[in-house]
Amino acid sequence: MIVAGVMSGTSADGINVALVRIDHTSARRARTLGLQLRLLGHCEFPYPPDVRNLILSTMNSAGASVADLARLNVLLGELYADAIKKAQRRFRVKAELVGCHGQTIYHQGETCEFLGKRLATTWQTGEGAVIAARVGVPVVSDFRPADMAAGGKGAPLVPFLDFLLYRDAGAGRVVQNIGGIANLTAIPKAASPKQVVAFDTGPGNMVIDAVTERLFNQPYDRDGLIAASGTVLDSVVSEILQESFFCRKPPKTAGREEFGREFVSKFIERCGKVNGRDVVATATALTAASIADAIQRFVLRRRGAYLDFIVSGGGARNATLMAMLANQLRPLGLQMRSTDEFGLPMEAKEAVAFAVLAYETWHQRPSNIPSATGAKRPAVLGKVSYG
Ligand SMILES: Nc1ncnc2c1ncn2[C@@H]1O[C@H](COP(=O)(O)OP(=O)(O)O)[C@@H](O)[C@H]1O
Ligand SMILES: [Mg+2]
Repeated sequence: MIVAGVMSGTSADGINVALVRIDHTSARRARTLGLQLRLLGHCEFPYPPDVRNLILSTMNSAGASVADLARLNVLLGELYADAIKKAQRRFRVKAELVGCHGQTIYHQGETCEFLGKRLATTWQTGEGAVIAARVGVPVVSDFRPADMAAGGKGAPLVPFLDFLLYRDAGAGRVVQNIGGIANLTAIPKAASPKQVVAFDTGPGNMVIDAVTERLFNQPYDRDGLIAASGTVLDSVVSEILQESFFCRKPPKTAGREEFGREFVSKFIERCGKVNGRDVVATATALTAASIADAIQRFVLRRRGAYLDFIVSGGGARNATLMAMLANQLRPLGLQMRSTDEFGLPMEAKEAVAFAVLAYETWHQRPSNIPSATGAKRPAVLGKVSYG
């Protein structure tokens, strides 16, 4: 079956579309999930600047208009459909099914009291019915609520793909995606799905992007050049790593609620009266240090248990961030590798993941990993719109 996976992450930079051929062997083995994948093509469509601005202001807003939220849902459905159709033309393939993550505008993984009930909630927007109508095939969307209804945090969901692709009989592996938020999947040597540990480590590009935007009026620090010319304020980094999010045991998730506008204002204030380059360098160091710190605190029980560190996401294009990370990982005995080496372009992995999750849902199979999300049970994820 050919499935289009569509991802738009918290960076709100754009839409990634992956066209994937997925097949499963009839005798599925529980440990390897028995799926075969072939990436037929991947492309990226940046959001038009006014759409990006609307998404960012909606995510950060305490009072978005209900009418705008409703319109955004349909608008994104149209943009996702356009992106899928363009990708299909480019690679001359036609998807038979779509898996679309949607754009997260709110995520609260931890429960809180609300009008007499304790609840957690999440909201991904981008109307599946519109995509199904325009592309003409069924669409699975809105993957996270089913995991939350089963007691999970609704994230991370990509570990299902990580397990499928990177589980190794001879080596433990840490798989790290650096999108707006950074998240890791730790897969012990010869693991079963139950042994997978996965969680958000903290900011990925989100804080770097925001300070670069505020101080240099650029959407991101291309290739990490600004950070490379600044000096890291180590005391700011180590102070922030003492805060509750970083100390909390997994499972845990993060979003703009933790590392959005408010965090960034405080971060800039904390850096004090220094050159803007030092602020960007410090934001970059925070991402690197929070990843290494999370691995030390929550993943490494003994040296040698994990050998490979496989990195993906737009942050892997930030050379300064990668250099900082490599320096911190070396003493932990981890070797940095990229998903490219394993046949998946770094930007494509999350889109591929949503193609695989849609495929599982289409076959009515669960695809959350309860040890990663904290769910009480496996759940079939998503809602289906028929074209
Ligand atoms: N050449 C580059 N140099 C530095 N950072 C980059 C580069 N390319 C992409 N990025 C970063 O990657 C981010 C997008 O990463 P992505 O994996 O798409 O995140 P998300 O899943 O949150 O959308 C951009 O916002 C930017 O911070
Ligand atoms: Mg993106």
